[in-house]
Amino acid sequence: MANITASVYTSHVPAIGAALDLKKDHEPYWQPLFKGYEKSKEWMKANKPDVIFLVYNDHATAFSLEMIPTFAIGTAAFYNVADEGFGPRPVPPVVGHPELASHIAQSVIQQDFDLTIVNKMDVDHGLTVPLNLMCGKQDPETGAWPCPVIPFAVNVVQYPVPSGQRCLNLGKAIRRAIESYEDASGKELNVQIWGTGGMSHQLQGPRAGLINLDWDKAFIERMVKDPEGLAKVPHIDYIREAGSEGIELVMWLIARGAMSDLRDSAQGEAAAGGAPCEMHRFHHVPASNTSVGHLILENS
Ligand code: DHB
Ligand code: FE
Repeated sequence: MANITASVYTSHVPAIGAALDLKKDHEPYWQPLFKGYEKSKEWMKANKPDVIFLVYNDHATAFSLEMIPTFAIGTAAFYNVADEGFGPRPVPPVVGHPELASHIAQSVIQQDFDLTIVNKMDVDHGLTVPLNLMCGKQDPETGAWPCPVIPFAVNVVQYPVPSGQRCLNLGKAIRRAIESYEDASGKELNVQIWGTGGMSHQLQGPRAGLINLDWDKAFIERMVKDPEGLAKVPHIDYIREAGSEGIELVMWLIARGAMSDLRDSAQGEAAAGGAPCEMHRFHHVPASNTSVGHLILENS
């Protein structure tokens, strides 16, 4: 009654949001970046989901360093856009899907992943910038995002952060949860799962400004072809190769784990689906301090 049809992966650089909000997206610095997402916006229009399950990280916005959940699922009916220091971004509030989100919380917690349930939360650039990149600008007064969104916040800000393997396994549990949902309307829901953040970047310390495009390209290649192997990469490799904030990339493994080629025979699941179809891949360096990477995979 609900199926994951596709996964989307993208960086979430806050300056991309600022470029849109300040109408600088046509400037030469930003043009190549936005051009890379033209195809994505067309794909999104042609493949409009009923719900987006959006894996991102909160940047000490809704949560502070006083309280840091490792995995937090938004079960609210709506989410206000956060004030990250310059007032809330001029984008529409985010409509949630409390029924599906509560079902996922129930199922995933019973599969032994401890989620924090969040009934009220503001969402920061980690969530709104990917929505802009995939759906374009939306008028904050008259516009709305194309569908409800379930925010799923992962701690990648304060160590210890979850391993790639745990993220991949969590993705598998999220897929089982989504596939076991029964919508009250009897409708079959088309769900997309997005993994956001990354790619290589370091915002502080002697290595501030670090970008490693070769590593980023290899990461995307393994996301497509070798996610199980990629999940075994230890944190220290992300930090060494992709910088201190490159660890945001572990969140991509949650979305990848939810794709149907990774069914788990240990869980008694039917044979794996075929390899996902790659619909789009894009790299751009730099955007602000970050190497931007993007990938769209459809379940075959
Ligand atoms: C930048 C990138 C991020 O992922 C972030 O959260 C903040 C800043 C940057 O490139 O400037
Ligand atoms: Fe970030």
